[in-house]
Amino acid sequence: MTHSAVETPLQVFEHEPFLQVTWRDSMTPARGFVVIDQLVTGIATGGLRMRPGCTVGEVAELAREMTLKMGAFGIHVGGAKGGIDFDPTDPRADEVRERFLEGVRPLLERFWVTAGDLGTQQEQLDQAFQRVGIGDTSFHAAVVRSDDEAEVRSRIQQAFTTRTEGLLLSELIGGYGVAEAALAALEHREIPAATASAVVQGFGAMGGSTALYLAHAGVKIVGVTDAQGMIVNESRGLDVELLLSARRTGGVIDRSLLREDDVEAPGDEWLGMDVDVLVPAAVGHTITADNCDRIRGQFVVEAANVPTTPEAEQRLLERGITVVPDFIANTGAAAGAWWVILGEVVSPSGACSRLSAQMRPLVRDLLSRADESGMSMRTEGIKFACDNSQHMISEYGGAVAFRDLFPAVPQGQQFTVGDADRDQEREAQPEEAVVAEVEAAVVEAVENVVHPPNGALPEGADLVESPLENGRRPAAAFPAYYPGPADESASGQP
Ligand SMILES: NC(=O)c1ccc[n+]([C@@H]2O[C@H](COP(=O)([O-])OP(=O)(O)OC[C@H]3O[C@@H](n4cnc5c(N)ncnc54)[C@H](O)[C@@H]3O)[C@@H](O)[C@H]2O)c1
Repeated sequence: MTHSAVETPLQVFEHEPFLQVTWRDSMTPARGFVVIDQLVTGIATGGLRMRPGCTVGEVAELAREMTLKMGAFGIHVGGAKGGIDFDPTDPRADEVRERFLEGVRPLLERFWVTAGDLGTQQEQLDQAFQRVGIGDTSFHAAVVRSDDEAEVRSRIQQAFTTRTEGLLLSELIGGYGVAEAALAALEHREIPAATASAVVQGFGAMGGSTALYLAHAGVKIVGVTDAQGMIVNESRGLDVELLLSARRTGGVIDRSLLREDDVEAPGDEWLGMDVDVLVPAAVGHTITADNCDRIRGQFVVEAANVPTTPEAEQRLLERGITVVPDFIANTGAAAGAWWVILGEVVSPSGACSRLSAQMRPLVRDLLSRADESGMSMRTEGIKFACDNSQHMISEYGGAVAFRDLFPAVPQGQQFTVGDADRDQEREAQPEEAVVAEVEAAVVEAVENVVHPPNGALPEGADLVESPLENGRRPAAAFPAYYPGPADESASGQP
């Protein structure tokens, strides 16, 4: 079969974002951009980056990716992104960020839930929100949509400050999901984790936890890279926990703590390693047409955003090498945060269990679809995510929400494994049958989790124990499009 379909999100959609804003700073040459790719339930989500040379095109592509991530995981929120073209190490960076937040304030008040990204730490961003007077968290636009803001704030605070295996939620959940995606892909090709090997490019928030959870599953981590080069141990594999304890600022490993048979190598050698799984977890556009022929592994599992160029992905597809795309593999970070915000999980281990329960069947399903169609997993994933997005827009509203952002029952499972036909079948079923089916899917998915963090089996109790009944609030209960105060007296007003 001829494999010819590899597209970037922007190419495939022929799609224009819902909203693009350009901001100019009055005090410096900085420019900033917000792109809201799509609103679902009247809201959209995506990080704010700061880097010299940031463009509106880059921000638009990443906003589209966020739409795909939310669509693929059935989270009823649209995709957005922000970017500031300015050097984050410049002493004026904090002021520039604050003026940008002031400039786009109406979006942050109601429509755009943002988070830390390149050149902007989450803590810095939360502090900037406080200084500018837009609440105390960059998740503000979501928090104010809740009937119980204090409760939402408190669970965000608790989930994001709890450490699991020494890691904060933001340092573990993204990589945990990447590891789960890789393990599902290996399983699909009937490669036991215990015989598999992997190399990880980048050892920061994403790369470190990907390596950790792959190693926990029995995968031999033969190499990791950081900004200073690669560390290799082909015979017995690296001790990932030791490397994490030796990790310093900038995700750089202290070489003085390596074992005697760990060796150093140039960073760009990671691509040619003889391993089953390659995980780019550092920077974008790292696998290109110029270097992709060096890859010998079976899978590239994308932890970084847009690490593989379309030309390279095409060549890999032709050689039978599967790319598990970023908007599937690395969505754990965004999904975990949203499950916490929405109250669907209350702890890091609950987020990991929930992530496994969705990631593994999703990866297996998309791989099967790609095997059947001969298309790339990315193409199949884009179709799936777009179908889900459209479904959620019909159910929850797009620019104008017609359901509450905080549903009375968890919704994520409803959209993730079904397709349009199945959804239609569901609609034709009696309500109790649908409820029973969703309950069974949750139980089955949770039972199938193999590698939760800490080796602990997932606790059903960690998923929110709401009964899966059709207990949603009535349509139009929340006037999402109305940018008025979020107090009781205003609710329900046009
Ligand atoms: N952190 C998240 O929640 C998250 C979520 C989704 C996607 N991503 C993407 O994952 C990637 C990594 O993010 P992160 O948060 O882990 O970053 P990070 O800053 O925590 O870590 C980056 C790592 O890459 C290393 N590095 C930098 N330049 C390198 C190079 N040229 N070669 C090899 N290693 C290099 C650094 O030393 C560090 O170990 C980025 O593309 C980011 O956009 C991050």
